[in-house]
Amino acid sequence: MTDSVRVIAIDGPSGSGKGTIARRVAAALGYHLLDSGALYRLTAYAAGRQGIALGDTAALADIARNLQIEFGSDAEGNERVLLNGEDVTFNIRTEDAGNGASQVAAQAPVRDALLELQRSFRKAPGLVADGRDMGTHVFVDAELKIYLTASAGERARRRHKQLMDKGIDVSLAALSRDIEDRDRRDTERSVAPLRPAEDARLLDSSGQSIEAVTNTVLDWANTG
Ligand code: DC
Repeated sequence: MTDSVRVIAIDGPSGSGKGTIARRVAAALGYHLLDSGALYRLTAYAAGRQGIALGDTAALADIARNLQIEFGSDAEGNERVLLNGEDVTFNIRTEDAGNGASQVAAQAPVRDALLELQRSFRKAPGLVADGRDMGTHVFVDAELKIYLTASAGERARRRHKQLMDKGIDVSLAALSRDIEDRDRRDTERSVAPLRPAEDARLLDSSGQSIEAVTNTVLDWANTG
C-alpha cells in the first residue's frame, strides 16, 4: 500500500531554503524527493514554449495533465530536469519561470491536474516533498510536516547570492520586490494558499546554517 510509505512534507515561502534542506534530508535518509515547485515551473515554461497565455486556465491544465518529465542526473551527478526529452534544468530556474509558476499555481484546475503526478512520487522507502501545500493538501497524512520560514530580507539576500553565483546579475531591490509579490500571490490565493498545516512544526532558518537546519529536520524525522 502506497499510503504506508512515509512522507516528510516541507512547505514554506520562496527562499526559505526548502529546496536545499529537502534535498539534503532526502539524501541522508535515502528517500525520494519531490520538488513540486518544479512542476509548476515546468507547466509555465511549457505554456510559454507553446505560446499559451498564463491566463488560459483550460489550456494550462491540459499541459499540466500531460507533462512528459524526467528528474535525473548527468554523468557528474548534477540534477537534470527533462521536458519532452529536452534538458530544461536552467530554463525553469529563472525569475521569469518562477513568476510564471506562481501565476499558473493560483489556478485550481492546474493544481488539480498536478495532484496525481505529485502523489505518484510516494514510493518506498519514503518521500521528502517540498512545496507550498504538501502538508495541507497533497500529503495531508504526512508523518512529519515542517513549515520552514526565514525573514523576507534574508530570503532575498540568499536568492541574490544564489543567482550571482550562477552568473545571473539581478538587483537585490528588484529581487526583494519579486519575493514580496510572489509571497502575496501564494498566500492570498483562494486555492491552496501558502500557510502552515495545523499539525506542522515551525522552523525559522534565519541566521542558521544549512547544516543546522538539516540536522533539526533529521532529528525530528528520527525521533518523531
Ligand atoms: O518553490 P518554487 O519557487 O520552485 O515554486 C514556484 C512557484 O510555484 C511558487 O511561487 C508557488 C508555486 N508552488 C505552489 O503553488 N505549490 C507548490 N506545492 C509548489 C510551488
